[in-house]
Amino acid sequence: MEGSKEVVLRVAESKQRDVGRGKVRIDAEAMKKIGVSVGDVIEIEGKRKTAAIVWPAYTEDQGMDIIRMDGLIRKNAGVGIGEKITIRKAESKPANLVKLAPLSFTISVDSGFVSFVKRRLADTPVVEGDNVLIPVLGQAIPFAVVSTKPSGIVMVNEETTLTILEKPAEAAKVPRVTYEDVGGLKDAIEKVREMVELPLKHPELFKRLGIDPPKGVLLYGPPGCGKTLLAKAVANESEANFITVKGPEIFSKWVGESERAIREVFRKARTAAPVVIFFDEIDSIAPMRGGGSSDSMVTERVISQLLTEMDGLVGLFNVVIIGATNRPDIIDPALLRPGRFDKLLYVPEPDNETRLQIFKIHTKDMPLAKDVDIDRLVAMTMNYAGSDIEALCREAGMMALREDPDAKEVQMRHFLKAKEKIRPTISEEMLKYYKAWEERSKQSLRGKSPLINFI
Ligand SMILES: Nc1ncnc2c1ncn2[C@@H]1O[C@H](COP(=O)(O)OP(=O)(O)OP(=O)(O)O)[C@@H](O)[C@H]1O
Ligand SMILES: [Mg+2]
Repeated sequence: MEGSKEVVLRVAESKQRDVGRGKVRIDAEAMKKIGVSVGDVIEIEGKRKTAAIVWPAYTEDQGMDIIRMDGLIRKNAGVGIGEKITIRKAESKPANLVKLAPLSFTISVDSGFVSFVKRRLADTPVVEGDNVLIPVLGQAIPFAVVSTKPSGIVMVNEETTLTILEKPAEAAKVPRVTYEDVGGLKDAIEKVREMVELPLKHPELFKRLGIDPPKGVLLYGPPGCGKTLLAKAVANESEANFITVKGPEIFSKWVGESERAIREVFRKARTAAPVVIFFDEIDSIAPMRGGGSSDSMVTERVISQLLTEMDGLVGLFNVVIIGATNRPDIIDPALLRPGRFDKLLYVPEPDNETRLQIFKIHTKDMPLAKDVDIDRLVAMTMNYAGSDIEALCREAGMMALREDPDAKEVQMRHFLKAKEKIRPTISEEMLKYYKAWEERSKQSLRGKSPLINFI
């Protein structure tokens, strides 16, 4: 059978402009080997099997034995960047019936929506168990393909009967953020991946070498620059379970029961391993003790509970903790010990390249007028955090709509006007403050804790 013609390729991320299109890029050589041409459907086999449409590789990728695919296809194939997958030519059948369910929230479905989704899915190969993203007003809503008839790889067409359930099929455990949603920050992504993905995916490596994997990574840096985003992307791409604990919630939602809440988090984590526990805004859970405020007793008990629980994870390879804060200076220093948060990673203010990527991400689904000059916007937005750029893009869209409710595109002047309104979050003082903290911490850790690293 022709199914025997297969090629093994290494997975690479897709370029921004290919994201969400259900296609993969492979080079001419690979196409020839499996006997497909541009536009054909192939089967992709990682831990799961999924399907996608073939597009030609970029010139610079020729002969590299890679396949570029976006986060959704990686998720559907059960692979991460850098891993190997097998591809072969696929026979797709027209779908008689496809049943979808929203992944994360309840929606209301009418016949208009059903035909809208059907149009969106037309000519996309789907497989039972896949996730698909349906763009609705610039937002992508994730659905699970609950079942198809016939089974296997099917294509949705005019005649397909499409059913959309209103309730989620199962609670989505993993946030739907992929590396493509994170602009720039290449260095930070790389480092976090190394520390989080490696131990979760290949604990045997560490066992064999007899070394303890890093237990906790603390992401710190100016607000709005992608710490939370990065943590979610890593969780998603490492295919681990993900438990998020928002610092401020520990105290508000669980009044009087904060310690129990912490205990509960770790208990859940142990049953969900491999798992990433993400303490977002950890400064609010674990501010320096002895502050003397009225609730300092509670804080104290919560911190010691947290420390006890973290220490209890020693020897567990498949639980990794990520913390994030924009106030590293007020975090209890006891958290920065070996076996606790032993890696410290600065998530920096976006440089030109990162801002360019962030602009691209947040204007991806926006109809832009020809005069929109992103490079110029990048040059004009020094000190703008990622969140500022996101707000600026949104505001530009709003400006265009306010001016003309029938506006078809967003123009440069809308961006310029929006920029007047959205001011930068970051300042020179702020950056100096992070540098100073890093210097101080290095001084105080010197000699004492050689295992704690700024990476
Ligand atoms: N590198 C980036 N690429 C794309 N979007 C970004 C980036 N950085 C920030 N953003 C946008 O800004 C929003 C806020 O970012 P995020 O929540 O990750 O910031 P943070 O570093 O966690 O800030 P804080 O310290 O206030 O918690 C994101 O949801 C995203 O829309
Ligand atoms: Mg955050």
